Amino acid sequence: MKNNQSDRKKSSIPFRLNRKSFLGVMSLVYQELLDKVLTKINIKLPKEDEVLNLVRKKAKQNDPESILRVIDSYAYKKTFLMNIGDEKGFILERAIIDSNASNILELGVYLGYSTIRILKNLKNDSKLTSIESNKKFANIALEHIKLAGLSERHELKIGKSNDVIPNLKEKYDFIFIDHWKDLYLKDLKTLESYNLIKKDAWIFADNVILFNLEDYLKYVRSSPNYESKFIPTKREYSKFHPDGVEISIYKA
Ligand SMILES: C[S@@+](CC[C@H](N)C(=O)[O-])C[C@H]1O[C@@H](n2cnc3c(N)ncnc32)[C@H](O)[C@@H]1O
Repeated sequence: MKNNQSDRKKSSIPFRLNRKSFLGVMSLVYQELLDKVLTKINIKLPKEDEVLNLVRKKAKQNDPESILRVIDSYAYKKTFLMNIGDEKGFILERAIIDSNASNILELGVYLGYSTIRILKNLKNDSKLTSIESNKKFANIALEHIKLAGLSERHELKIGKSNDVIPNLKEKYDFIFIDHWKDLYLKDLKTLESYNLIKKDAWIFADNVILFNLEDYLKYVRSSPNYESKFIPTKREYSKFHPDGVEISIYKA
């Protein structure tokens, strides 16, 4: 199998959609555009600011569940948010517990929703490092995490994964991949090449069906270095659009 990104067909979008995922993605694009237009003509604040304001107003301090509830409720009732969501969020929490992970890496934080789901399941001796490239999202996430009372064993590195990963010094035994979809495979290979993945580490990749991440799936499913399994789900905040997560155990 060729591992090179140049295998990919040229596309103006950073992933290849199939019919299965097309409607799911189009509904997201429509909601994103509508939100942008309404924000531009000053009818509403950007959705991320609205979420932060709601969390400040409605969530209880030191109560992670209340923060997740406020965020989920906004995403179900108002506008789509690119969080992992509740259905896949539970699968992520289960994986954190079952893996017994002690040093976790998260690629893509957005508003800190998945970060909170990971942090609330950490063992006493465990910690999480997260990487987020957007400063505004990172600052909102930091406020959510602080309000949840979960900042203690968390470090957020603001920057692009390709700049941050080469400077990481520790090995990870759980890696949650949920940043831009065209970077999954490239960043996994970078983590491998910098020797940052512990033997038997769990690699948890979100949205592998919604965004049709064929290259990533082909790699983890055919490489002798991984034992990989797929869990089918629906897309975050949808009852209809198919999605799924891929959990791959690093055997090298
Ligand atoms: C799908 S959202 C993350 C959602 C989050 N994991 C959750 O479930 O709550 C993707 C995030 O990745 C960030 N991102 C995109 N490319 C990145 C990169 N190269 N390095 C770090 N963060 C990146 C985006 O700014 C965005 O906030």
